[in-house]
Order: sequence, then C-alpha cells, then structure tokens
Amino acid sequence: MIGLGYVGLPLAVAFAEQGHHVVAVDTDQRRVASIARGESYIEDISSEQLAAVSERLHPTRRYADLAPCEAVLIAVPTPLTRNREPDLGPLMSAGHALAGVLQQGQLVVLESTTYPGTTRERLVPLLEESGLAAGKEFNVAFSPERIDPGRTDYTLRNTPKVVGGLTARCLERAVALYEEVCDDVVQVGTPEVAELTKLLENVFRSVNIALVNELAMLCDRMKIDVWEVVEAAATKPYGFMSFTPGPGMGGHCLPVDPFYLAWRAREFDQPTEFVELAGEVNQAMPYFCVDKITQALNDHEKAIRGSGIAVIGVSYKPGVGDLRESPAIKIMQLLSERGAQLTYHDDFVPELADLGLRSQPLEAALEGADAAAILTAHPGLDLEAVVASAPLVVDFRGVTRGIEAKNLVRL
Ligand SMILES: NC(=O)c1ccc[n+]([C@@H]2O[C@H](COP(=O)([O-])OP(=O)(O)OC[C@H]3O[C@@H](n4cnc5c(N)ncnc54)[C@H](O)[C@@H]3O)[C@@H](O)[C@H]2O)c1
Repeated sequence: MIGLGYVGLPLAVAFAEQGHHVVAVDTDQRRVASIARGESYIEDISSEQLAAVSERLHPTRRYADLAPCEAVLIAVPTPLTRNREPDLGPLMSAGHALAGVLQQGQLVVLESTTYPGTTRERLVPLLEESGLAAGKEFNVAFSPERIDPGRTDYTLRNTPKVVGGLTARCLERAVALYEEVCDDVVQVGTPEVAELTKLLENVFRSVNIALVNELAMLCDRMKIDVWEVVEAAATKPYGFMSFTPGPGMGGHCLPVDPFYLAWRAREFDQPTEFVELAGEVNQAMPYFCVDKITQALNDHEKAIRGSGIAVIGVSYKPGVGDLRESPAIKIMQLLSERGAQLTYHDDFVPELADLGLRSQPLEAALEGADAAAILTAHPGLDLEAVVASAPLVVDFRGVTRGIEAKNLVRL
C-alpha cells in the first residue's frame, strides 16, 4: 500500500484483516510512527482495529520494502494546483519511487481519483522505467475508491468496487485481489472507464448540490422555505433524487475532482460547462452565507464589525473532523476580515491553528455572542440550547426546522 490516508489506511487494514501481510508505505514519518504505535489518525479506523492487525501491518517509509509484495495499491493525494489544475506531483513521485523497486509479476493498482488516461499515459511509462513491460511483466489496473469517511452503512465490504485493467489478465488479477475485501467487484473494459466512472459520480453530486444551492439563494429572495420544497419534491417516488442545500461544498473530493475532468476535457476542445458552473455556484455559497449573517445582524441593529459570532461546527460534514475544503473556514475568514469576533464549537476539531482559535464548549462559545451560525450540525448537538442561548441563530443546515423561535433565521 502506498499512501496511508483516508483511503489507503482502511484498505491496508482490510487486507491485513484477511490475513495478508501488508507493507504500508507513507512519506509522512509521523503517520508511519503513529501506525507503528498502534494509534490511528483516521476516524474510520479505530486504534483497536490497528492493534488487532499489528503483526501483519508493516508501516514504513522505505519503498524497497514493497519488493516482496504481490500487489501494490497506490492511494496518494491528487490535489489541485493554486490555479486549479491537476497536481500529479505526489502520484508521479510515488510512481517514480515504485519503479525503482518494481518486481516482475507484481500487480499495481491506482486508487487515487484522477482524469481518464492517467494510469495508461502517466503512471505506466513511469513504472516501465524499471525496465519491465506493463501488461506483460507486471500488471496494472485502476480502481477508484468510493469511501465516504464517517459512513457506517456502506463500507469497503458492501460498496461495489469498479475495476478496469490494462489487459484482460491485469483485470483478472485485480478482480481476484479486491474480491478478498469486497463482496461485489464490477469489471469495466479499460482503466479509462474506471477513471471516468469515479469522476462522473463526483460531478453528479457537485452539479446537484449546486442546483439546490442556487435554488436556496432564489428561495431566500422569494421568501420560500427551500427545505420544505426539497422535502416535498423528495416524495416523488421516481425521477427525483434529493440533495440538500448548505453553506458550500467541502471535503477532499467534490470541490477538487470535477476540475480534473474539466482540465482534461480542454485537451479535446470540449468544454464541460456543467462542471465549471457547479464549481462557481458552490464556491459562491460562503459569500452568500456571510451576506445572510450580515443581513440577520442588521435586522437586529448590529453591524458585523465588532459583533461576536459563534460558529457551530467547522468540519465539512457531520460526524467527522475533516476540515479539507470546509466552507466553514472560508466563512470564518470572511467574517473575520469584516471585523467579527469569532468563537467556535466543534467536538471533532479541537483547534483551528490558522485562525488562532480553539474549540470551546457550546456554552462558552455562545456566551456573549451576538449571533450563532450553524455551519455543521454534528450528531448530539443541543440545538435547543443554541437557540435558547444566542440572541440570533442563523441555521445553514436546516437542522432547526421544527423549532419555533423569533431569533431563528434559516437558509
Ligand atoms: N478521502 C476520501 O473520502 C476519498 C474518497 C475517494 C477517493 N479519494 C481519493 O483517494 C486519493 C487519496 O486520498 P486520501 O483522502 O486518502 O488522501 P490523504 O491525504 O488522507 O492521504 C494520502 C497519504 O499519502 C501520503 N503520500 C503523499 N505522497 C506520497 C508518496 N509520494 N509516497 C507515499 N505516500 C505519499 C500522504 O502522506 C498521506 O498520508 C485521492 O486521489 C483522493 O481524491 C479520497
């Protein structure tokens, strides 16, 4: 396994739980040391789970340790550069390092989300620098991860896994590998199909979230309850899939992956307008939220400058501490730039070092605040207490529906 993050660590543990010895490579010494100590840093994997497989899980920074492995899975980050273009740096450096130790007969599977063509055109040539021929002396496949951090109903075991191989034999080997940890392996014709499948899934979500966010902004002007509209539409038993509005789109995948497709599409003179538009709408949401808070304060005869604002929930979704691309951070930056005094409460995120803030107990965060903004509602959040304690509450998640109070404003 190369890359021991949200994707790689659960995969490594799953194979170790099946009785395999797993060499787990990461360039981050702290992560390697943490696994060696049996301490998990990923919410989906408990330290007990790590301890249970400690004899078969071998964390290391050395690629050379991969030499005896039959299969090598790659789950390194695929971020965007500052100007929102694919950054294959981590993947290229992993491929280069792997080429140095690649063995005849090994199977290499890329799991990182990326544009169609990456496996064949970027990874394979790197690996062939080993002197071995792909599809002949070693096998290559692409299989996208569908993990949803924090989710317990759909796991690696019961979420169908899509696999595309460079050759029929590559596919056959990759399918046999994944069948060990996954009940349903879906075979597709090429790595490109598998790569694009993942992007379609993410673009689909991004576009639908943008659609409902745009509707939320319209509803705000029209003074219509967007939550009621979505809930009513969701009673249609066919042809409609419910997405809820919110303060913006977060997480590692949705704000990033669609741009991989848009970038690749430009090479083919084919604009992907849905992708770009969804990105634009979703990126505008934090600004809309700040305007909404400003307006709500104004209605209470307060200016944003100098107002105390308690932010409730800063991770990008309930139940996890993942801050990646979290719209809450953008909203807090904007509020701070406009002179608001911020506190926050999030049991999953003890500290926001960049903002110089630490999470406070709910009561302390709300004390003296002029307004509370609910940006993420973790399970167990005492909403009644929020509404009772803050002079003004702006709810961007629709979680206070059912509570009637004069100081409550909803998206
Ligand atoms: N997090 C998710 O929910 C999710 C879901 C599906 C797909 N993905 C995709 O999976 C890939 C990995 O995502 P993640 O969330 O696990 O990322 P992550 O940042 O949690 O973990 C990546 C790990 O790779 C390590 N790494 C970086 N460069 C390396 C190198 N050259 N050699 C060895 N290790 C290296 C990092 O230190 C880190 O521990 C990405 O392409 C992502 O888009 C993520």
